[in-house]
Amino acid sequence: MSGYLIEDTRKVTTHRLVEMKRQGKKIAMLTAYDYTMAQIVDQAGMDVILVGDSASNVMAGNFTTLPISVDQMIYHAKSVVRGTKRSLVVCDMPFGSYQVGRAEGVANAIRIMKESHADALKLEGGVEFIDTIRAILDAGIPVMGHLGLMPQSINKFGTYAVRAKEEAEAEKLLSDAHALEDAGCFALVLEKIPADLCQRVCKELTIPVIGIGAGPADGQVLVIHDMLGMNKEFSPKFLRRYADLFSVMTTAIGQYICDVKSMDFPGENECY
Ligand code: KIV
Repeated sequence: MSGYLIEDTRKVTTHRLVEMKRQGKKIAMLTAYDYTMAQIVDQAGMDVILVGDSASNVMAGNFTTLPISVDQMIYHAKSVVRGTKRSLVVCDMPFGSYQVGRAEGVANAIRIMKESHADALKLEGGVEFIDTIRAILDAGIPVMGHLGLMPQSINKFGTYAVRAKEEAEAEKLLSDAHALEDAGCFALVLEKIPADLCQRVCKELTIPVIGIGAGPADGQVLVIHDMLGMNKEFSPKFLRRYADLFSVMTTAIGQYICDVKSMDFPGENECY
């Protein structure tokens, strides 16, 4: 296998992630939404696989993450869990599954865990949802927080621009981050905020902070379709493309079309 050498082949746990931060080891996290992609990501040595509600965008073609349902998240998470041996699998709670109230949030969290076999859940928001987050944690479910740009609130924000540039929003983010740690979250995603604010949160919290568009942190996360260059439309400043799979795949598919039409495929060796 080329690339990263996996030193520790044991299943990654939430406790190990906290330990990694304590030891100064960085955490790698990527999204996956299906069995085959999960096998590839897991076998490459990923620490955490996020079954993100970004499935709504990259798998279903929706403009926002809002339309994806609990049933659809369970379907994606179940497929990912089947393809994963080592990585910790975290599943997003979709929009509407925890915002209504504590009882409904806990019921949905339990259902996602029971049916998907994911290892943990992630949900967006700070003190507004702290009672629900505590209740989910009390039910024995590990929770990853998510602050900064919260795509489920895009209609409130009105823009995907960088968050918490102003002092008041930065202070609110800091106190939310502490509230999530105090409640018992095992990690926190910070999306699209100034790098110095992210650094401050990393220093003040003992739980790992995973950044996306937030500069250096205890770990990083990207959407797999974006970092593999499978789509052409999305190219924010923070995105590093590690491949151009759009071109690789359209070239291969184009070649297949030519081979079928010219009757080059199937050849003699490909017949019974
Ligand atoms: O849904 C998702 O993919 C996410 C990441 C962008 C953190 O929440």
